[in-house]
Amino acid sequence: MRIEENFNLRAYNTFALDCRCRYFIESDSEEELLELASSYDLEPDKILLLGGGSNFLFTEDFDGTVIYPTIGGIAVVREDEESVWVKAGAGVVWDDFVAWSVEHGFFGVENLSLIPGHVGAAPVQNLGAYGMEAADAVYEVEAVDIQGACRVTLSAADCCFGYRDSIFKHQWKNKYIITSVVFRLKKRGEFRLDYGSIRAELEKAGGDVSLQSVRKAVIRIRRSKLPDVEEMPNAGSFFKNPVVPLRVAEEMKREAPDMPVYPLDGESAKLAAGWLIEQAGWKGKTLGQAGVHDRQALVLVNRGNATGLEITRLANEIKKSVFMRYNVWLEPEVNIL
Ligand code: EPU
Repeated sequence: MRIEENFNLRAYNTFALDCRCRYFIESDSEEELLELASSYDLEPDKILLLGGGSNFLFTEDFDGTVIYPTIGGIAVVREDEESVWVKAGAGVVWDDFVAWSVEHGFFGVENLSLIPGHVGAAPVQNLGAYGMEAADAVYEVEAVDIQGACRVTLSAADCCFGYRDSIFKHQWKNKYIITSVVFRLKKRGEFRLDYGSIRAELEKAGGDVSLQSVRKAVIRIRRSKLPDVEEMPNAGSFFKNPVVPLRVAEEMKREAPDMPVYPLDGESAKLAAGWLIEQAGWKGKTLGQAGVHDRQALVLVNRGNATGLEITRLANEIKKSVFMRYNVWLEPEVNIL
């Protein structure tokens, strides 16, 4: 176990913000995390569970303990005719897990290629892209109960998954340290190609449809739209796509026929936050050192030495102008601290 005091988290958040935490604890062992839970009084509001740091915006130093689990390993733990159950450590880089699954011919996460972050954060955020989300594949979650200092296994149903949402962000916030995730993947599967430009991208590459070619197509699409965190620090989509009553979405579409609308359940519809932000004039704009990406308006970027407050100020200005123009209130997908 590594323990640091007054530790700079710059290398541990993809916005590359300079901020410090009181303690930083890194461990690659479930045993050690259990010991940590039983030997220290870790109050829920003084803990921050960190994965790849791709969904945090730090606006000030964190006066508490950051727990950074780095448990590795990917292994098949069970299989039948149709499925395999694959256990991956919380510290495995998400895209390494996707690459492993594709290499082994297992279906279910290929559209989720190149999403930043660690496996342990996948059920928390219910990460998603191109018509797939973590919830489709998560079977169960293994964790350390911090207050009870014991191991628990939580079923997918326990996780109460929603759009970029789970119980780990609400009632169970800071209650568990996720140590590994068991995914149920399919040995034979159907491809989901209808979302976004995956089909067009596959056509461009010669039309072959396989796990490998879908993964490559998704990677090409993401690289063409989303900035590389190494070159331009960012946290992916900054806002969630807003869900509004279907009636409201239809009224808006009458005014702006080219507005993307994704009907959900006959009563509500998802709008594209990136489109709204672009229409409000923000694409490519900069405020101080904080900016709006010029190829995807849903992504806010650190153009150099932005502070968390600068990025928050930009986000607030965007929220205000989208609200003034469309009467829609954007909510951040990123956790602001
Ligand atoms: N659009 C614009 N202007 C923009 C950005 C988007 O007009 O600047 C339009 C696009 O043309 C498209 C629609 O908005 O018609 C949706 O855009 P896109 O398909 O790029 O996806 P998104 O809704 O912006 C969501 C996820 C992404 C995920 C993509 C692909 C959320 C908040 N974001 O973005 O997730 O990769 O779909 O499935 O749900 C992330 O969470 O960090 C992330 C990148």
